[in-house]
Amino acid sequence: MTVGGRRLTCVVGTRPQLIKAAAAWPDLRARHRPVLIDTGQHYDDGMAGAFFGELGLPAPAHQLGVGSGTHARQVAAMLDRLEPILIGQTPDAVVVFGDTNSTLAGALVAAKLGLPLAHVEAGLRSFDRGMPEEVNRVVVDHLSGLLLAPNVEAAGNLAAERIGAGRSSARVLVVGDLMQDLCAATVPAVRDEAAIRGGASEEVRALGLRTGQYVFATVHRAENREPAAIHAWTRILGELGQPVVLALHPGTRQALDEHGSVLPRRVHVVPPQGYRATLALELHAAAVVTDSGGVQREAAWLGTPCLVLRETTEWGGTLEAAGGRAALVGRDLDRALAAMARLAPPKRALAGAVARSATATVPPAGAGAAIAAAIEDWLGS
Ligand code: UD1
Ligand code: UDP
Repeated sequence: MTVGGRRLTCVVGTRPQLIKAAAAWPDLRARHRPVLIDTGQHYDDGMAGAFFGELGLPAPAHQLGVGSGTHARQVAAMLDRLEPILIGQTPDAVVVFGDTNSTLAGALVAAKLGLPLAHVEAGLRSFDRGMPEEVNRVVVDHLSGLLLAPNVEAAGNLAAERIGAGRSSARVLVVGDLMQDLCAATVPAVRDEAAIRGGASEEVRALGLRTGQYVFATVHRAENREPAAIHAWTRILGELGQPVVLALHPGTRQALDEHGSVLPRRVHVVPPQGYRATLALELHAAAVVTDSGGVQREAAWLGTPCLVLRETTEWGGTLEAAGGRAALVGRDLDRALAAMARLAPPKRALAGAVARSATATVPPAGAGAAIAAAIEDWLGS
């Protein structure tokens, strides 16, 4: 740790934010004095607690214990509990990650207290305001003083909104994708087929999975918890011609239960998995089916064919750069089956997965180091 480094308060609260904070932590610690505040938006051990140990994150300086609720109640509780802590801490800057309600709350409190605010994963846009995350992204970007964009496309979106231009004092920098750094560092440990059983939960181990002989799926977007959507995507999963391992977010599990949904026979629901186990399941799968921002990018970096259960994506550039092995299929069965036949045809899927998993290499993006340096520079200027 650098003596005299800046005092940074990193506000996290959900699974992907713990993963992003863990990816940045070694670089933040090397140059600054970071602490975590966990809003407690995610609270099941498999959605939150387990990642601290697995990814080497320190215990949070404060656990707000906010939990679930409507968006207004959840964000209001975060604002209420965060404000006195930030008043007491007076950090040199507040750092927020991604686009969740915890990101929004951290940004709002920092902005209202006049604390410098840095946003990691700035500038992403799906251009769909019906998505709760899009609302969060737009607000947080317009409040931030340092906008750390994962790619040029995201920086372009900020320029289009005049952020960092004209009389705005905001600074926009392209720093790369933190999740790519963690994926790059982890991939050597999951090349062996044994990795799909090694760190996985008992429910996954019981399935006796083999490379290339299953599909890995995650579903959690709000739009995919509606009854008609559930009906459509469960049908898609049942018709892919492979057993499906569905690592299910507890909110989606609750929605399935509420609607009395019966899953097709070859769809195996398993609990949320750890980070390394998930990466292994993605790498060794014949294909990935997901609506997750993180999982679709990981599939792209790993070279695994990916069907995205959405009509839009804020990660178009990442998916294109991966060579067209991903397709947006919404919840349309015909599109999904056509994409599966094109990207992971039965005759090639097994050999493709075996070859890919044996040789997978992901180049690091260097985002952690770029973020730590950018913060130092910005606060020093
Ligand atoms: C949140 C983010 C989303 C992100 C996702 C990552 C918002 C608006 N959404 O969605 O952008 O992609 O996290 O996973 O911030 N639940 C549990 N246990 C938990 C957490 C949640 O049972 O540990 C259930 C509760 O029923 C809760 C529901 O999941 O009502 C939804 O949780 P919430 O935190 O509101 O949003 P996510 O769907 O997790
Ligand atoms: N992930 C995980 N266990 C799971 C499902 C996902 O560790 O059971 C990881 C995944 O590998 C990726 C991150 O969680 O690194 C993505 O988070 P999530 O899908 O919850 O949110 P999003 O990226 O859509 O915001």
